[in-house]
Amino acid sequence: MPVHVVVGAQWGDEGKGKIVHALAEENDLIVRFNGGANAGHTLMVEGEKVVLHLLPVGIVTRFKRNLVGPYTVCDPEVLVKELAIADAYKSEVFLDPRAGVVLPIHKLLDGGRENASGGGAIGTTKKGIGPCYEDYVSRRGLRLGNLTDADAIRAELARGRSYEERAAVAQFHGLAPPSLDETVAWAASFIKAVQPRLADTVEMARQAVAAGKRVLFEGAQGVNLDLVAGTRPYQTSSFCGAGGVSASFGITRFDRVTGVAKAYATRVGGGPFPSEMGEADDETLRQAGSEFGATTGRSRRCGWLDLPLLRASCDAGGITELVINKVDVLGKAFAEFQVCVRDGKYVKLPGWGDDVHFRNLRLYGHLPVGAQILFDLIEKYTDRPVVGVGTGPASHDIIWKRN
Ligand code: IMP
Ligand code: MG
Repeated sequence: MPVHVVVGAQWGDEGKGKIVHALAEENDLIVRFNGGANAGHTLMVEGEKVVLHLLPVGIVTRFKRNLVGPYTVCDPEVLVKELAIADAYKSEVFLDPRAGVVLPIHKLLDGGRENASGGGAIGTTKKGIGPCYEDYVSRRGLRLGNLTDADAIRAELARGRSYEERAAVAQFHGLAPPSLDETVAWAASFIKAVQPRLADTVEMARQAVAAGKRVLFEGAQGVNLDLVAGTRPYQTSSFCGAGGVSASFGITRFDRVTGVAKAYATRVGGGPFPSEMGEADDETLRQAGSEFGATTGRSRRCGWLDLPLLRASCDAGGITELVINKVDVLGKAFAEFQVCVRDGKYVKLPGWGDDVHFRNLRLYGHLPVGAQILFDLIEKYTDRPVVGVGTGPASHDIIWKRN
């Protein structure tokens, strides 16, 4: 199975990080293809909790080779922190020179826009993602490849007076942006960390595929937050499905596109959430599943699994198979839980309590009856097989269904 894509099938936070971590060992390359430090993967690595935002999850697998693709936006401060983690695991990281650089002014603008939107705010992570991608698509703004010397940085930021224009917009929002000189000096401080890692990641990924190597593309966020497929304006600024890989890497044949979903649903930030739970259930699940944002610490909104929506997400994201996470959490939190099967119509299924054997189960057929019915419903409504079930936070807490 040489080319494998893992994407979020909901609104992010489905536990993609754990799945990629579990699959990293058997792959030669792990490639992050979209987004930036808006992501938050909480991992259990050798018994320790590690949270990653930007670099591929493969960096915590020893000696693994990791790429950050061209349609990502990289916050150099996060980059430097996570490169140190990669060094600790002796894993390799290559960064595409075309990736955007998130500047301090992008973060300021992200916050300023949100404040200006008042009640209509999107609830972004305020990591500067939207404003950085705005620069990217208007063909300006700093890229990692510009981090060669202070003159090159200045030349790019001054081109078309783009930094000046940005600063004027920030002032319009009542913000006090750093000066051009300050931004140049700030960016130049990352040259040493970034330069040795620059490489044409598109070529590297293509060559690896051509050589029959196993390549795993790691998605960030989820299909329901996709710039096109998501509900406007409650979206992120990148392509979150398998199409995002094709757009960046020109690779269109995938052996597997795994969509990761939870046995329920969560959403951080604003936007429609038809299967959102009532307050009491919401709080129960948030506590049981620690549903707080890994990037922002915000409480995640909780809801029931929405099968018609999951079907639509599978279609939009090119998903061919599903992994269902946090099955242990759902069964334990509720004696009876719900699943949305149609507009406003739910079926009720029995939970499975604190099944102490659940974590050690390796046989799909031995799952509690409520869980088996749930997976049968998921397969029926999405027309995709459930190939794996997450039963705990560690990467080995997965039951893979082998046919
Ligand atoms: P942005 O990506 O920071 O611009 O935020 C846009 C929307 O996507 C907001 O609703 C965020 O909460 C959401 N979002 C962005 N990244 C993630 C993520 O990794 N997990 C969950 N939600 C996210
Ligand atoms: Mg997350």
